[in-house]
Amino acid sequence: MAKVTWTKEQQSAIYEKGSNILVAAAAGSGKTAVLVERIINKIVNENIDIDKLLVVTFTNAAASEMRERILDAIYKKIEEKPEDVRLQKQINLLNKASICTIHSFCLEVIRNYFYELDLSANFRIADSSEIELLKQDVIEELFEEKYYENDENFIKLINMYTTYRGDEPLKELILKIYDYIQSAPFPQEWLEEKIEMFNLKDEIEKKTDYAKTLWGDILLEEYKNKIVENRLKLEGVKAELVRFPELEKFTSTILNDIQMLMEIEEIIINAKDNVWNTIYLKANELKFR
Ligand SMILES: Nc1ncnc2c1ncn2[C@@H]1O[C@H](COP(=O)(O)OP(=O)(O)OP(=O)(O)O)[C@@H](O)[C@H]1O
Ligand SMILES: [Mg+2]
Repeated sequence: MAKVTWTKEQQSAIYEKGSNILVAAAAGSGKTAVLVERIINKIVNENIDIDKLLVVTFTNAAASEMRERILDAIYKKIEEKPEDVRLQKQINLLNKASICTIHSFCLEVIRNYFYELDLSANFRIADSSEIELLKQDVIEELFEEKYYENDENFIKLINMYTTYRGDEPLKELILKIYDYIQSAPFPQEWLEEKIEMFNLKDEIEKKTDYAKTLWGDILLEEYKNKIVENRLKLEGVKAELVRFPELEKFTSTILNDIQMLMEIEEIIINAKDNVWNTIYLKANELKFR
């Protein structure tokens, strides 16, 4: 096979050093080829043995592909330099090289260092249905415990988020939040930080006006955008309608609705105190004719 001529971008992905590199390119455009070449370059020109590199992928299939393509590339290099002993050694080293999924690499680390983590030596990976059952057990137990303690904050939460039908939806909500925050590197800290945002900008008003919290701000902004968006839609309809005098009745109805939305907009923009409640009350009065 003819020697590949790498593009300029591919070359920088192959030879760049001393920083993190993110390569994003179209399917089939040579990402894996570049990564393989990068590894081969480290072996041949930087004298790094293949078992000193960590190559992780997301899937087993991708890991096998990497291993295979690295092996092919090493064989090709050996064809060019049959007398190179270091290159030949790489074939053996490849067997114990860390070319695997990120999950199996992590598992390996934990297996080797379980004692540093206060884990039992015979820990194992739970399957997903097992984990679901464990989660259910934990949340049931937690709720029992909190009911028993009659914890003030917990009771407030129950009163706010459950109905006479029961507390199942709240348990589900908690588990959902739990799942959601797992994608943060430090879930608990992340959650604390977001909760802290309820403690707004202005300490004095915080107990009385939810609109002055960061979250209130975001919700109000979204609400305002919805109102404006719908008002503009209605204005479009109105512009069509006025061309037909016989539809005057409809026009006046639409005008009425537009007027109502403008009033809410005005309140959102101008309200200074007790903002959340003012808007809440006004919004509840909304009645489209
Ligand atoms: N500069 C180049 N010149 C010639 N062929 C190239 C060049 N770059 C990549 N190729 C070839 O293109 C083909 C696809 O490359 P590769 O499998 O590395 O793409 P990929 O981006 O990893 O694809 P996928 O998105 O499917 O994972 C391979 O046969 C590779 O050798
Ligand atoms: Mg690829």
